Amino acid sequence: MTTHRTDDVERSLRDVAEGLQKGRLPARAISDQALHPLEMRRVFGRTWVFLGHESELPGSGDYVVRYIGADSVIVCRDESGRIRALSNSCRHRGTLLCRTEMGNTSHFRCPYHGWTYSNTGDLVGVPAMKEAYAGGFGKDEWGLRPIPHVDSYSGFIFGSVDPSAPSLVDYLGDMAFYLDLVAKKTAAGMEVIGAPHRWVVEANWKLGAENFVGDAYHTLMAHRSMVELGMAPGDPNFASSPAHIGLQNGHGIGVLGYPPTLAEFPEYEGYPDEVIDQMSASYPDPLHKEMLRRSAFIHATVFPNLSFINVTLSSDHMSIPTPFVTFRSWRPLAHDRMEITSWFLVERDAPEWFREASQAVYVRTFGPAGVFEQDDTETWRAITAAVQGPFAGDGPLNYEMGMDLAPDGDWPGPGRAIPSGYAEQNQRRFWATWLRYMQEQPVIGEALP
Ligand code: FES
Ligand SMILES: [Fe+2]
Repeated sequence: MTTHRTDDVERSLRDVAEGLQKGRLPARAISDQALHPLEMRRVFGRTWVFLGHESELPGSGDYVVRYIGADSVIVCRDESGRIRALSNSCRHRGTLLCRTEMGNTSHFRCPYHGWTYSNTGDLVGVPAMKEAYAGGFGKDEWGLRPIPHVDSYSGFIFGSVDPSAPSLVDYLGDMAFYLDLVAKKTAAGMEVIGAPHRWVVEANWKLGAENFVGDAYHTLMAHRSMVELGMAPGDPNFASSPAHIGLQNGHGIGVLGYPPTLAEFPEYEGYPDEVIDQMSASYPDPLHKEMLRRSAFIHATVFPNLSFINVTLSSDHMSIPTPFVTFRSWRPLAHDRMEITSWFLVERDAPEWFREASQAVYVRTFGPAGVFEQDDTETWRAITAAVQGPFAGDGPLNYEMGMDLAPDGDWPGPGRAIPSGYAEQNQRRFWATWLRYMQEQPVIGEALP
């Protein structure tokens, strides 16, 4: 049985490799349940995975529980102010140590036998130590296992369980430039408002990641009702404008400007003057400000499972478009189930009216009950269900869009820009990167097609 399953997986991966060269993806890459446990090791065991934002841990003792693939991780700020990421599994029998999703504590006490760890991970308390371990034991060696690498970029905390992981900056590559575009509009930077939303969707996690990395094309159909409700621009082609930018290491982004027909559309996504006035001083590169001036819709995925958008929409047909930022992670629970965690972020020093308006638009469009969100997740659920059919699951899916488009040599920013929002370069590169991890090949800094 084991051999049979291994053969199946190898066949799935071989088919993906062959298919991608022709702009095709075997549906098995979504439906094959044997891929899920391998992804835990080969993808989530080697990449940098998003854990949260520094503003979620403002004080000593603050913690949140997050995940790297199937691993539960306590992310906390210790008494010295340092952010740590610790494996959330007791060193005695392995039980889940911290059961609450967020809080403040100096210590974590295990609910099974009571071993107690400080928020530096040190084992500091063992009940009945003298009676139970008459000869003593090397307590110093039995602290919580730290995640081998933890680092932040622009306030965004990532962790990697791979001891030989590249630096976070090398891993992000040119994505760092685009994270700056979203997160460095003002000197004070961004903060997360409230606890992030979390919900479970019966869909494969890669469908969220590949949608955000490049799928502007679905806007005119899946989100058509938003156009009809007046919450999105009246021209259903509004998401087609350039550019679609492939980055190293499987990351990708779309920076879309609304077509000139939407002349009434505000510059700088409609950010308030208090934010725009700070951009020249705050952005690391003058190009950032010029890029944001002309953009309306930024959507991206940081490989493997962090996506973000910075877009301008209306919360109803009466209100003016207001920009907002949401980051979200797609946590695989099985081949056909994921947990979505969605953070709303806003500039710390933006005026209060704007912070509230921005959050309201986020909730109504991309919150768990948001109209855009439900359009998307229902579609991904239906893909996951449809390809479970052995016949449908054996067929190739079409990823040919924009294969014949040459890169835009005039794109001023980093990356390989395709001069149309309607292209599938980024989705092909996302899958090609996934394949390299799954086939245990080198990825970082390698050229992608
Ligand atoms: S499992 Fe944690 S103290 Fe025993
Ligand atoms: Fe969508």
